[in-house]
This record gives sequence, C-alpha cells and structure tokens, in this order.
Amino acid sequence: MSTLIKNGTVVNADRTWKADVLIEGEHIKAVGDGLSGDSTVDAEGCFVFPGGIDPHTHLSMPFMGTTTADDWESGTRAALSGGTTMVVDFCIPGNGQPLLDAWAEWEKKSETAYADYAYHMCITYWNDQVRADMGKVVEKGVTTFKHFMAYKGALMVNDEEMFASFQRCAELGAMPLVHAENGDLVAALQQKLLKDGITGPEGHAYSRPPSVEGEAANRAIMIADAAGCPVYIVHVSSIEAHEAVARARANGQRVYGEPLVQHLTLDDSEYANPDWDHAAQRVMSPPFRNKKHQDDLWNGLRAGSLQVVATDHCAFTTEQKRFGMGDFTKIPNGTGGLEDRLSVLWTKGVETGRLTMNEFVAATSANIARILNLYPRKGVIQQGAEADLVVWDPKAGKTISAKTQQSAIDYNVFEGMKVSATPRYTFSRGECVWQDGKLTGQRGRGRFVPRSPFPADAQALRTFKALTADRAVAR
Ligand code: URP
Ligand code: ZN
Ligand code: ZN
Ligand code: ZN
Repeated sequence: MSTLIKNGTVVNADRTWKADVLIEGEHIKAVGDGLSGDSTVDAEGCFVFPGGIDPHTHLSMPFMGTTTADDWESGTRAALSGGTTMVVDFCIPGNGQPLLDAWAEWEKKSETAYADYAYHMCITYWNDQVRADMGKVVEKGVTTFKHFMAYKGALMVNDEEMFASFQRCAELGAMPLVHAENGDLVAALQQKLLKDGITGPEGHAYSRPPSVEGEAANRAIMIADAAGCPVYIVHVSSIEAHEAVARARANGQRVYGEPLVQHLTLDDSEYANPDWDHAAQRVMSPPFRNKKHQDDLWNGLRAGSLQVVATDHCAFTTEQKRFGMGDFTKIPNGTGGLEDRLSVLWTKGVETGRLTMNEFVAATSANIARILNLYPRKGVIQQGAEADLVVWDPKAGKTISAKTQQSAIDYNVFEGMKVSATPRYTFSRGECVWQDGKLTGQRGRGRFVPRSPFPADAQALRTFKALTADRAVAR
C-alpha cells in the first residue's frame, strides 16, 4: 500500500523545493516528480515538513506531590494534532528507585501512546548501582541522562554526583542533560520571600532570577568539560544561560541549548496578573522572562548557538495548581504546549521573519533528531527515512483555546493567541493519524524508538584525554 503526497512544497532543514513524496509502508520511498501511488493526498498550497519531535515532555509524571494531568494518551494525541510525531519523555526514578524499575514503569505507561517516543533517564541520586545500571539503560536504547541542579530535597543532585554521572556518560558514549538552576539559591530565596510575606505566584519568579540559571548553566558546562562529555542544557530561558552555552561552543565544547516555545513567546508580566489562577497556571521553572531575554533566545536560534525548541510539556490542572494557594513553593511547576509548539513557533517565528522555514524545521525536528541520534530515521524527508511528516497548511489559522484542545487540562497558556497555520494531515510511520482536525490513528500504535550511543563522542573521548592535558597546560 503506497500513498503519494502531491503538489506540496517539501521543507527540510537544508532546503525547500516543490516535490511529491511517495510513502510505502512505514517509510519514504521516493521524493520527486512523476511518482504514483495507490492513493493520493493533496498538499496543494501546503508545505510538507518532517514530523515535529518534542525532545522534552513529562507525561504521567509524579511530581511535587501530584501527577501531570496529560497521560500518554492525551499527551500524544495532543502532539499529533499539532504536527509533532515523536516525543522524548523523562523516566524519573522515585526516591532510591532502581533505574530499570523506573524504565519498566515508563514502558507500561507509554503503552497507550498514539505517537512514537523515546526516553531520557533521570539521575536523581548516585551510588554504584546507578553507575552500573546506566550501562543497562544505554543497552535498552536510552542514551541521554538528565540531571536536576534544582528541586532541592527532591530530584536535585550535587556537583560530586553530577561529575560522577557525567564521567560515566563519557565512558558510555551517552550525553547528560541538565536542568540548570542553582537549587540551594532557589531554596534560600524562597524562604526569604515567604518570610517577607510574598506567598503568591509572583514569588516563584522572584525566587528564580536569571543569575540562578546562569550560574548553574556555567557550572554544568564546566563539569562536562572536566568529564569530557557533551552536555545539553534544557529549557534555556535567559541571556545568562544562553551566554554560557554560546561561550562554551566558541571554546570548542559540544554544548547544546534548548529554549522552550513558552519562553520565546510569553513573558513575566503573566505573573503580575491579579487572577491567582492565571498566574499559577504559568508557574514553571525557569519562569517566564522579560522581552530582552526573549529577543536573545530568538537570536540564538538564528545564530545557531541554540539549536532546538521544546515545550517541557508538564501539564497540571487549575485544581492541581491550587495546592500552592498561600505558598508559591507548593504550586506544581510546569506548563503545557505540546500541541501548540509548531503553530506558535511558525506564527511568532516564521511569519515575523525571525526564522526561515528551514530554521523552523531544524529547530522543531532535524536538529533534535541529529543531537539525540535519531537522524536520518527521523527528522528529514528523504528516501529511506520513516514517513513521519506533516502537511502544513499556512492558511489554516485558528485561535488557540482550551475549549478545543486535546490536552486534558482546563486552560491553555496560549489562550486567545491567533496562529496562522495548522496541520492538514499528520503522518506517523506512513499512516495518516490526523486529518482535518480529527484523530485517525489508533491508541497504542506509538512505538518506542531505541537510540544508539554517540560513537563519535566515545571515539573523540580517547583523543580528548590527551587534548585535556594540553588545555590544562595551555591555560
Ligand atoms: O517547571 C517545569 N519545568 N516542570 C517540569 C520539570 C522540569 O523541571 O523540567
Ligand atoms: Zn527542568
Ligand atoms: Zn522538564
Ligand atoms: Zn524503519
């Protein structure tokens, strides 16, 4: 059974051209002219992109005394509706829980997925067992390990633990990810603010200033340099953290930076909203920043010092957010965005001239696939790649509203935003799973996508040891 996507304009990260796309089974059979298929899909007036990949989601995640409201069903449905065909979610071991048990829990939870998925494994404590299990996790196809420098008393790891884990990553050809905020400073600032009588959601933003993020980003990057591994900084929200990433890259380190679509488009004035619910619904870490930081993140995406755009989709209902009434430190941290990422980035990025279409595809798909070692299975429209693609209608605008969303929560942080484009069709491994505003794929059809270690990095490490000795002398 083959399908021909006809009359569209194909957009990859490196070029844009008029071509038809022939899908056979789960793969792309050919891209070009004069092709024919058993059935035809009309892409007249549309762009055809590689399916979006969201490298950062939290579906059914226990966190801050509750569990995120979007499970694998509603979460991946939301993804497909917005043109995202794959998510990378975080397995988070509970207190002292073995990594492989966390893995098994996530495997079970993700059985209902509509879209393909991979995992990152979180390192939330350290001992010899964790060290050994990291190797087993890599064998299962999970080659990225996340570290929280914040959430003191819960998920946070200290420098010693981070360094040990980073060295282990280097050994395995794996890559550490880092939530960069200085957890000690955040905890101290939270206590000070509460003591001063600041208990509302605005206190959340005050307790996590850019300096707290910049310090941690610099520290993580230096620790990665000492350990001889690459590092990926999640949710880069500030000039300070972006500078750390850009500087390290200029110095020859393999450092990647991931801004979120929320930080690019929503600012800290949201926390001044007198409606407690409105402000609390926007509480996430790091918090939204001012326009200066936003401009800087857009600049980074254009210049290449920031490579990918994620959502950190971590959705809580208003009722869940209200756990923090009277004490902002208890408001569950996180916002949604999975279904809106492409439309919002297109409207605020491509439509405004901040990003080219190719840069848009790079940031939402191709760069993510490359950095996470999924390329060219995912992230590109070419012969042999999996047929994950979006037929993108630049004239099918809508107004974002919680009333029409797939996500299970009762609000949307982009509520009322007019976006200019949405998917006409979403294909996942050759199957049309979303069409004209309707889900057409089956629950549970999503598949785990194993990833290999990063052979180039493992190999580079051998020479790197000599190099480090040189650098130590040179500096
Ligand atoms: O506020 C956030 N970002 N919640 C999700 C967990 C995390 O820090 O990534
Ligand atoms: Zn985080
Ligand atoms: Zn996150
Ligand atoms: Zn395949």
